[in-house]
Amino acid sequence: MMEWTAAVITVSDKGSRGERVDTSGPALQEMLKEAGYQVVYTKIIPDEYDQIADELRHCSDDLKVCLALTTGGTGFSPRDITPEATLSVIQRETRGIPEAMRAFSMTITDKACLSREAAGIRGETLIVNLPGSRKASTENLSAVLKPIRHGIEILRGETANCGEEHPHHHHQ
Ligand code: MTE
Repeated sequence: MMEWTAAVITVSDKGSRGERVDTSGPALQEMLKEAGYQVVYTKIIPDEYDQIADELRHCSDDLKVCLALTTGGTGFSPRDITPEATLSVIQRETRGIPEAMRAFSMTITDKACLSREAAGIRGETLIVNLPGSRKASTENLSAVLKPIRHGIEILRGETANCGEEHPHHHHQ
């Protein structure tokens, strides 16, 4: 049986200096736990390209978590570079995930199209960017958390079947 491990990286200049309390990170951790993940690593870092890339490499190469989430730095502010740092470390982009998050989020606020969030696979880790606020990050994650689980199973060779689930079939 595989272990469902996850990491949450909060990307925020103010958060990293202790000038703002990180409410998104804990909210995302809670959602992950409720979905059956063990959150094995959390960190608050500034909007620095190299630090973001280093943390994502650490999550994938050393910790080998199934899912690494970032929150923050996806907008239009000059310091927002989380998607660029993410794209520099991933090996395969998973565009459907940000597409689905933005499509869902546009039904809540048309400002959702301003999030430049990216996602992709490095090794056996799926990396997904989320916006910075607690509201935006949890809304975005809620749109994709269920299908992501299936994606990770395929990535890790735990299932070969992409078909519908069979609710009346009981596994032994
Ligand atoms: N997505 C959802 N679901 N809900 C929101 O409130 N806010 C948007 C967008 N995505 C929002 C959302 C706004 S206002 C911005 S500026 C972008 O996310 C980028 O956020 P970030 O700069 O904190 O990463």
